[in-house]
Formats: sequence, C-alpha cells, structure tokens
Amino acid sequence: AGTSSRVTDHGALDVLIEGLRRLEYRGYDSAGVAVVADGAIHSRKKAGKLANLENEIAEAPLPKSMTGIGHTRWATHGGPSDGNAHPHLADGGKLAMIHNGIIENFAGIKAELLAEGVTFLSETDTEVAAALLGKIYTTQAEGDLTRAMQLAVQRLEGAFTLLAVHQDHPGVVVAARRNSPLVLGLGDGENFLGSDVSGFIDFTRRAVELGQDQIVTITPDSHSIIDFNGTPAEGKEFTVDWDAASAEKGGFASFMEKEIFDQPAAVADTLLGRSDANGRLTLDELRITPDELAQVNKIVVLACGTSAYAGTVAKYAIESWCRIPVEVELSHEFRYREPIVDSNTLIVSISQSGETMDTLMAVRYAKEQGAKTLSICNTNGSTIPRESDAVLYTHAGPEIAVASTKAFLAQITATYLLGLYLAQLRGNLFQGQIKDILADLGKIPAKIQDILDRGEEIKAVARKMAQVPSVLFLGRHVGYPVAMEGALKLKEIAYIHAEGFAAGELKHGPIALIEQDQPVFVVVPSPRGRDSLHSKVVSNIQEVRARGANTLVIAESGDEDVRAYAEFVFYVPETPTLLMPLLTTVPLQLFACELASAKGYDVDQPRNLAKSVTVE
Ligand code: G6P
Ligand code: GLU
Repeated sequence: AGTSSRVTDHGALDVLIEGLRRLEYRGYDSAGVAVVADGAIHSRKKAGKLANLENEIAEAPLPKSMTGIGHTRWATHGGPSDGNAHPHLADGGKLAMIHNGIIENFAGIKAELLAEGVTFLSETDTEVAAALLGKIYTTQAEGDLTRAMQLAVQRLEGAFTLLAVHQDHPGVVVAARRNSPLVLGLGDGENFLGSDVSGFIDFTRRAVELGQDQIVTITPDSHSIIDFNGTPAEGKEFTVDWDAASAEKGGFASFMEKEIFDQPAAVADTLLGRSDANGRLTLDELRITPDELAQVNKIVVLACGTSAYAGTVAKYAIESWCRIPVEVELSHEFRYREPIVDSNTLIVSISQSGETMDTLMAVRYAKEQGAKTLSICNTNGSTIPRESDAVLYTHAGPEIAVASTKAFLAQITATYLLGLYLAQLRGNLFQGQIKDILADLGKIPAKIQDILDRGEEIKAVARKMAQVPSVLFLGRHVGYPVAMEGALKLKEIAYIHAEGFAAGELKHGPIALIEQDQPVFVVVPSPRGRDSLHSKVVSNIQEVRARGANTLVIAESGDEDVRAYAEFVFYVPETPTLLMPLLTTVPLQLFACELASAKGYDVDQPRNLAKSVTVE
C-alpha cells in the first residue's frame, strides 16, 4: 500500500528503498521494486518486511538505473507471498506495475483475459490491471504508455493508484489515481511520485497535489497531468513543511516511543498562531465563513480507530461549550445507513492520514446530502482535506508508528480549538472564558512533559505485566474515550485482549469478567470537578476490587481518595476536566508501548495492521 517511484539522474534503487522505508508504515506484507536498465525491466520482490527485499537484492544485485518503481504491500487479494508481491509484470516482462487499493471489477477482466490466453502468476487484482495495460499498450495505444494507461483506467472500478514503467521508455513513469493517494515531488533534474510526501522528503520540498481521476507522466525534467478523458489538468503545488529528521527515530527505540515524547510539541504546535493575545480564535485558514458556521445546528464527527476516540472527546467539549448536539459515528457505519444530515449539519471528519477510505467515502456521501464538511487532518496534500469545504490541520508532524499517539493528542487539541471558535462565533462563551480555557490549554505541553519525565513509574508496571492475558479499562465522561483508547493501544501493539468500558456500564455486564487478579485500569476524573462524577468512579474502583481485580488508577495529582483502593496510582498534573484526556492518555500509551516492547514485539509495525487504510 506504499508506492514510491523516481525518475532521476542518480541511481534510482537507493532512493526507492529509502522511500519505501519511510512509507513502510502503510503496509509491510511484502515489498518489491522494478528498475529500467539496459533496455529491460529488472524486478525483485519478497514477502515480509523491507529487510527481506534488501537481502534479496544484496544476493541478486540490480543494474544501475535512473528509473524505477517500488511498493510495500498491504494484502487484499491473495496472501502475502513472494508471488503476490508487487511489481507485477506484463507484456512479456517488458512492463512492470505497482498498485495500491482494490480493483473491484478485476474478476470480470481476468476472465476475459484468461479466455484470450493470458496467464497469471498471482492471485492479485493488480496483476489483472497490469495485464490489461500490457494488452492495451500493444494493441491500441501504439506504444504510448500514457495513452495506454488512460484507456486502461477507463475500464477499472474501485480504488487504485497505479504506477507503470516500460522498457521501451527508460526515463518515464506513468501513474494514475482514483480514490487512493498519490503525490508528485519536483526535484532538480529528477522527479518523484509517492503515496505521501515522506516517500521523497529527503530529496525535495516541492510537492504537487493530484486530483481525483488524474494521470501523471514524469521524466527527469518534466511532468504532465491529464484527467481520465485525456484533458490536460493542473495540480496544486505546495511546500512540504515536515523535515526529514522529524521522520527519524532520533535515539528512541521505536518511532512509537519517539512520537509519545513528541507530544508536548504536537499540542503546542497545533495551538500555535490560532488565537491572539486577547484570546480571540483566528482560524482564518478554515475556508468556511463565520456565517455558514453560525447556522450549524448539528455536528456529526466521522472517523475510524484512534481518531474516532478523539471525536468522542470532542463531543463532550463541544456540547459543553457550544450547546450544539454532536454525534460521533464510525465512518463506515455512517456511510451505509440513511443518516439524517442537511445543509445545517457540520460534518467534522478526523483523520491523521487524510486518506482513510472509509472516512473519505463517508465525507463524500455527507457532501452529496448537502452537509458542510470540515476536515481535521495531519497530512498536507491528502485527499480528505482537499475534498472538504474546510480544513483545520493538526501540527503533530509525521506520524510513522502504526499505532497513533501524537496525532491523537493533536486531534483532541484541534477539536477544542474548533469548539472554542464555534462558541466565540455563536456567543456561547464570554471572551474571558475562552481566554481562560486557551490559557489552560497553553499549559498542557509542560504537563505532558512532566508525565513523560515520570514515565518510568508506569513502564516498570508494564514490564511486570507482560504476561497478563487480558486488561480492562474503565472511564467516565471524557475518561471513557481515554479508556477505549488505552485498550486499543494494547490490542494493536501487544496483542493482548483489552477492552474499554464506560465505568457506569460495568455493573450492567462487564463486571462478570472480573476474577482474581484481573488487571483493571481506571481513569479517574478530577475531584475538583463535578463532585458526583469523581465519587462515582471511586465507587467503581471499589466494586471491581471487591471482586479481586488488580486496580491501576490514573488520577489527578492530589487525589488521595483513590490511594486506598489502588494497587498502583499514576498521578497526572491538575487540569480542568474537559482537558484531562490530553494528560490521562499519555501514561496508557507508555504502558502499551513498554509492555509490547517487553514481549519483544515490533511496536511500530504490528501484525495485520497498516497505518493508512486506503481500502473500504
Ligand atoms: C488505521 C490505523 C489506526 C488509525 C485509523 C484511522 O486503522 O491503524 O491507527 O487510528 O486507521 O486513521 P486516520 O489516518 O484516518 O486517522
Ligand atoms: N489489492 C492489491 C493487492 O492485494 C494492492 C494492495 C495494496 O494496496 O498494497 O496486492
């Protein structure tokens, strides 16, 4: 699912491998490259992580070349074997193709090609597209690779980024995209294509966004874009503000750990420049007018995975500050029912990558129903913000580890800014109140740093618990999504059965799970907040403890009530209740990361997952 390619006057192979290393988080079932050299295509591909491909190339070196394509796969059609790895060859081995996404009508085309005597070596949908392109190239396109691509994609349905090279065109890569991501990088005498900018971040900062249903042809010193009908098109150029170093581990054992430690900066950078000295929010970048926003009478947050938990936190804050009803729904559920949205509905999509297909499709659907769409996104030049009416970027920097951490805190921060902005526009809060909340937000980065500095307290507990078979997480109010996120982290990277519950729901079922020594994390609200909330959760701790649970408590500094009932307490600095998720999440991230590392797992690339899921 990661695509990288280069047309260059340097050796292409090193650049492809480096690009794939940066894109490997998008999928890592297998990897492969093809280069054009000496009038032929040379390809190597291997199941498993990129290192396997590198070993293969070390044993069977590739000739020096200026042009090549490379791929890391997240298997959809056919298991992760050498044979199913990309590139796939066609036209008698003269053409190589890589693909991200799913070609939904591949079966029909495959049957047609089989009937014509074409043979297939893999189970993938991709090889069918390659064979189709090869056939069109030889029979209809008179050796014009771009034209052949254009005719081929007209027959394809689904989601795809396709890149092809042909031995007859040694300095050319042709790419097409529909629904799947692709970005163009412009260098000096060299050009690049990547699933996202991290594929070429070492070589250039000049990037071009490509639109839906476009074909781009690159050579070392040119690029041209057309749509699927052949009409010339323009891409939008932008400057990449991520630096290459921010996508390096920087001395940490894993990207995940590094990204957990990036969180003070992720929150601070997301707040930066978005309000003036008087506490007035200035979200000029939104591309949606204050009048339009003032008319909103319902907000629907759409997201998947960790981003959906950020959405749940947002619901508590926005409803409290703006008195607008907020629904939070998983994108894939929203899309396939008959949701009630209209022109007064504001859809807020949350996506780190800006490419999650489920969320993209849900946003498109909502737009068709007349809703206004606002994207909270971490990735410049990605599809969801480009297709939304408005965008509020999170400034977490590149997130490489599959399990999301710093993007989550940045997303929560961005939804707070949005909530405060709406409250300002609609007059729900006084300017002084907004200013106070912004001041509290401004103190969060230092408080996160304090938690990180004391990280060893929770890491020691994690190491001791490496063998536990299951962990439960309880929370109420904004602590509820934090509990869900704590459980998700553990499932994702430590492969431990974990579940998050609303603490009040415990007695309605989940309490039956509690037996002797069952570890239960409890996220406790501030005792300074609404009194009943705190005491209810303290009662919940006692209920599980009475049944033998091993209770691990995340509480606010100064909360002495919890000590008596907890085997372990981790204190976070004092902060207003609604902002607490920015702090209480952090020890749970550290816990999961340390526990998974203690088990010897690769925390950055957990099994079966991919960071950017560009299939529905
Ligand atoms: C994948 C990732 C998750 C992520 C989710 C949503 O499933 O493995 O970590 O939370 O997608 O991603 P997004 O980029 O839309 O925030
Ligand atoms: N559907 C293709 C396959 O299974 C591409 C998957 C991907 O995006 O990596 O090979």
